[in-house]
Amino acid sequence: MTKILVIHGPNLNLLGSREPEVYGSDTLASIDQALVKLAEQHSVSLETFQSNIEGEIVNRIHQASANQNNFVIINPAAFTHTSVAIRDAFLATDLPFIEVHLSNVFSREEFRAHSYLSDIAKGVICGFGKNSYLLAFEAAIIACNTSNSKE
Ligand code: DQA
Repeated sequence: MTKILVIHGPNLNLLGSREPEVYGSDTLASIDQALVKLAEQHSVSLETFQSNIEGEIVNRIHQASANQNNFVIINPAAFTHTSVAIRDAFLATDLPFIEVHLSNVFSREEFRAHSYLSDIAKGVICGFGKNSYLLAFEAAIIACNTSNSKE
């Protein structure tokens, strides 16, 4: 069975009350619930993980690789713009991933336009709020099915 891991970075536990004019009113729990529903529809295994701590995210990527996860969807949040460690974890494990953002990072402050992950991601989806995750999930399933059919 295809195994997908969704990682939520720092401050995303506060979604719903955090700057709703930027991030919308959906809570993290409601995003995870919508992902669970999609996973059931597609018969794929889904795990979700949120942390405010960079090292915990690095460890979770290592664990996902050891546990033969097929794909990661990650909203690295502020670590997008700072974390060589998360970049290196993906390079070290060679896990395919999609980078997602709720907001359109390119229409905000200049520092948000730079990502340490985008160039090594399979793709990047941003600007669609909760739907950024759902679109990424559909894309991950297509990517997994395509790579399985090549085996
Ligand atoms: C974010 C965008 C980042 O710049 C920011 O630091 C976040 C959330 C987004 O989902 O739009 O925490 O990743």
